Amino acid sequence: MFSFLSKNQPETDSQTISLDPDNIPAHIAIIMDGNGRWAKSRHMPRIAGHKQGMETVKTVTMAASQMGVKVLTLYAFSTENWKRPTDEVNYLMKLPTDFFSAFVPDLVKNNVRVRVMGYTDQLPEKTQQAVQGAIEDTKDCTGMVLNFALNYGGRAEIVTGVKRLAQQVSDGQLDPTAIDDEMISNVLMTASLGQYRDPDLLIRTSGEERISNFLLWQIAYSEFVFVKEHWPDFNGDSLAKAVQTYQQRHRRFGGLEPDENQK
Ligand code: FPP
Repeated sequence: MFSFLSKNQPETDSQTISLDPDNIPAHIAIIMDGNGRWAKSRHMPRIAGHKQGMETVKTVTMAASQMGVKVLTLYAFSTENWKRPTDEVNYLMKLPTDFFSAFVPDLVKNNVRVRVMGYTDQLPEKTQQAVQGAIEDTKDCTGMVLNFALNYGGRAEIVTGVKRLAQQVSDGQLDPTAIDDEMISNVLMTASLGQYRDPDLLIRTSGEERISNFLLWQIAYSEFVFVKEHWPDFNGDSLAKAVQTYQQRHRRFGGLEPDENQK
């Protein structure tokens, strides 16, 4: 459980995680890792870990929305995940259908809008339909954006974006010396998230400390929090603790702390 700190802070029990409501990360991105190990440790097949992982997606979506997060981006399937055994890939492709058919009414009730980024045209037809249905059903929601990265890869995204700019140069529509950060951000798959396109906080579960081709451009100034729990064990409290860790960080974006400028 979490509570927001207030000026007249009442006594909170030791179980409550206190958060500053004025410093909630607007965009949280999560690498949901450890489903396979979670299942293995219980002598269950890997897909049982993914199934439980889907339940965690529901819990964490609700917790993030209640916290006031604006965008929650979840790395659900990477461009490299096709290398997994066919049964596992098939199961992962079925998950969005199961998830959205069960969960869209709750998303609508909580004003959560679904978006998807990635090479979705390469997904099976049924998966594409489930995704498009959820986007359509939640299109009028104005609260948190639940952004799934599905068949997404950071390098591929940059390659695609650079090709678009190169084409504009070759067509004589763009002066190459005019290319800047903003222009590159605008050709990436996060462009439609506007001011929230870059994550403030990146979380990876399961104790691994690497980026695995996720949002390579967008995480330039993100805070990273690596947690030991496997994704199926992650919950609202785990999210609140990661946000609490984020709130203890001093983000300088390459500059100095305000008081250091005066020295
Ligand atoms: C990484 O764990 C997890 C994935 C590749 C899949 C993540 C998918 C979900 C959590 C469900 C997504 C739900 C929806 C609604 C799309 P891993 O399998 O690599 O774990 P391991 O490192 O322990 O083997």
